[in-house]
Amino acid sequence: MSFLQSWSEPIVRVQSLSKSDIQKIPNCFVKPPSNIPFNIMDTKITTSVNLPLIDLENLNSSNEFVRKETIDVIFNACREWGFFQVANHGVSHELMEKTRTNWYEFFQLSLEEKQKFANSPATYEGYGSRIGTEIGAKLDWCDYFFLHYLPEELRDENKWPRIPISCRNLISEYGQELVKLSKRLTTILSIGLGLNEDYIHQSFGGNNETSACLRVNFYPKCPQPELTHGLSPHSDPGGITLLLPDPDIPGLQIRHGNNWLTVNPIPNAFIVNIGDQVQVLSNAIYKSVEHRVIVNSKKERLSLAFFYNPGGDKLIKPANQLVTKDCPALYSPMTFNEYRSFIRTKGLTGKYQIESLKSPK
Ligand code: OGA
Ligand code: NI
Repeated sequence: MSFLQSWSEPIVRVQSLSKSDIQKIPNCFVKPPSNIPFNIMDTKITTSVNLPLIDLENLNSSNEFVRKETIDVIFNACREWGFFQVANHGVSHELMEKTRTNWYEFFQLSLEEKQKFANSPATYEGYGSRIGTEIGAKLDWCDYFFLHYLPEELRDENKWPRIPISCRNLISEYGQELVKLSKRLTTILSIGLGLNEDYIHQSFGGNNETSACLRVNFYPKCPQPELTHGLSPHSDPGGITLLLPDPDIPGLQIRHGNNWLTVNPIPNAFIVNIGDQVQVLSNAIYKSVEHRVIVNSKKERLSLAFFYNPGGDKLIKPANQLVTKDCPALYSPMTFNEYRSFIRTKGLTGKYQIESLKSPK
């Protein structure tokens, strides 16, 4: 699979547009009316949701009932919501805050400094402003920085920001902690499905092949938030996502039935969600739920999405134990690289891809 080496249209930095004091957003950001989101800062109230919050310390309880109950709550959240939040997760709150502040400072640097890390659709690594390469596509109101953390062959610190000076160290430390937490979560998710506790870890390629990347999303203020999205509706293509949301500004919305619910961020918690590959492995017991981000005219917003994924060459398919006569395999095997190439070309398309891959009955 080969990708374009450069963008097919000139790249517009959303942050620069936002700073230019325009009153109207360019047409390429205006979504079709059927997709128009609510504006959270408006008086029109959108429904907000408190996602199930799990105290991970409960898994260390000496009381077996407490441990089992915790695993059950996570299992049910993955089935019904595809999302949950974790507290007492072992990652230092100071590290979380420092890492967020660091990235905020990066986005405040001059355009010239950020441009040194401008990305291309060949790997998406670096400073970017669009996902997908189709000419004339509708764009999202978001700039981002994307980098690889695992596997080690793909980790290239020279592609990480040099300023702020603590940036590279913080990314390394944050990455290390989030890999630890992700691995722990895949264990719990495997146990919930009745599989060996390292089933998901091994399917992702174990310690050597599992991949992990970080996307830092920066959503500038938007003069017409009701016409666009910060991120279009999508499900995450990979394994699991650990999101450190902006603690002050809501923006993430998840689909629940026909409604979009705004997630209330909880200080110092991570929002965890199931990606498409875990939906496939679990034969759709766990749901990779569609979500999107809305923007506002008052405040910029920053979030860190850590994606914990199968190695690119791993063939992902429903676990044999979860395939029965009554529950046939819903998906054919596919490598994660093949799967991801679709999004990297077409951009975010809701749940279209994983739905279209369901095996014919
Ligand atoms: C993502 C994502 C949500 C957010 O990066 O895939 O869904 O709140 N981000 O930024
Ligand atoms: Ni997402």
